[in-house]
Amino acid sequence: MTNRRNFIKTSAGIVAASMAMPAFSFASQPQVSANDRIRVGLIGCRNMGWGDLADMLLNPEVECVALCDVDSNILAGRAAELEKSHGRPPQIFHDYRRLLEIKDIDVVIIGTPDHWHCLQFTDACSAGKDVYVEKPIANSIAECEVMTRAAKRYNRIVSVGQQQRSGNHWHEMVEYINRGMLGRIARADVWGNFRYGALDKPFPDELEPQGVDYDMWLGPAPLRPFNKQRFHGSWRMFWSYGGGLMTDWGVHLLDMVLWAMNISRMPRRVTAIGGKFAYPENAPETFDTQQVVYELDDFIMTWSHTGGTETGPYGRNYGMAFKGTNGTLVADRENWEIIPERSGADGAGKVEPLKVLSDHKERHRHLADFVACIKTRNPLTACTIEHGSLSACYAHLGNIAARTQSMLVYDENAHRFVNNPQADALLKPEYRSPRQFPGV
Ligand SMILES: NC(=O)c1ccc[n+]([C@@H]2O[C@H](COP(=O)([O-])OP(=O)(O)OC[C@H]3O[C@@H](n4cnc5c(N)ncnc54)[C@H](O)[C@@H]3O)[C@@H](O)[C@H]2O)c1
Repeated sequence: MTNRRNFIKTSAGIVAASMAMPAFSFASQPQVSANDRIRVGLIGCRNMGWGDLADMLLNPEVECVALCDVDSNILAGRAAELEKSHGRPPQIFHDYRRLLEIKDIDVVIIGTPDHWHCLQFTDACSAGKDVYVEKPIANSIAECEVMTRAAKRYNRIVSVGQQQRSGNHWHEMVEYINRGMLGRIARADVWGNFRYGALDKPFPDELEPQGVDYDMWLGPAPLRPFNKQRFHGSWRMFWSYGGGLMTDWGVHLLDMVLWAMNISRMPRRVTAIGGKFAYPENAPETFDTQQVVYELDDFIMTWSHTGGTETGPYGRNYGMAFKGTNGTLVADRENWEIIPERSGADGAGKVEPLKVLSDHKERHRHLADFVACIKTRNPLTACTIEHGSLSACYAHLGNIAARTQSMLVYDENAHRFVNNPQADALLKPEYRSPRQFPGV
């Protein structure tokens, strides 16, 4: 592998922020016999859920029979698009529970904001559906734990929208690291610097737009007046619905380090500093500037982000660097490369320089893997609920440590922090009545 790929040239890709609206197109499908059909319902149609559906529909055995959204404008538009591309109108719903009542729906895709994932996921599992749930799997550690239990209890096939797990160059990176090529890895630094993390100055509250069931959008979250900044897309920067850049990008990127370093447990300790230091007057509640340190058994992992600016180490606004005794491996969604350590009088590299490019097919592969696992009833999808839960919990730990200005130790058996009631209070959201925290 080393020789073949030496000095491969970098592709000049443009990385889309995860808030950008995708321009997906549906390919026409070859026919498959009725018995082999996999019938899908999509909950949350505006952005990523729609993209996931588009990728899933590239598999000829998949058909979409129902769409659900609390925004009638989005719902009507997406239903019309689907009818145009596939010749049949889907059933449409405002309340996902009605969609889950349809017996011949096999699978649901959950593309709603993070604060809804846990309820919709546990309800879908108990209704006997397989589930593709977007990342982060939930907006709290307690929700991650209950979702993991639900997937097991109801014996569902689950895949999480951390599509990097299906990226060719990420697989090759993990393989390279597992072969010991980097020597001893003592630290991994991960960062995600995105402009959208700072949003704008606050907008005034207003009446909800016509056709939007705002109470259903809020769901288990506290009642608050409608505000465009806390709605479509930008809800991520408000604690009741999301965890800012730490969870939005943190889950994708921390996941790669946890995978490559074979970590399946919470860290020994975590500490963090964060605040609205760059844009104190802007709307987000989540922090525009944050630094987290995770202590593992024999190495440290760090996370840092700046919202509002888009530069970063090694000329990458987001990515990761594994620091090994033989060299540094730097990676993002475009490629990974090796920067060798030099040794001896001749300054020879301890490892060969190398650059490996992404083929950018990870999303299609990720959904194709899910479809294959559904057909064979194989629970080991490319990103299992355990993978999704672990990286979401790491991201939430970073936020809780920053919000409480603490050094945290999480007791995985007791499901709480050691001697930190203030941090315990952030483990589980209080659901607004009539929603109830799932009792799985
Ligand atoms: N895997 C990735 O790379 C990636 C990229 C972007 C977003 N995401 C994830 O996808 C999820 C959705 O993000 P987004 O950017 O699409 O958000 P969005 O705000 O653009 O879309 C969410 C949609 O869900 C709808 N919705 C809200 N509550 C609902 C409910 N109770 N029932 C039905 N519909 C409801 C909204 O009306 C909206 O149409 C998030 O968890 C996000 O983190 C993942």
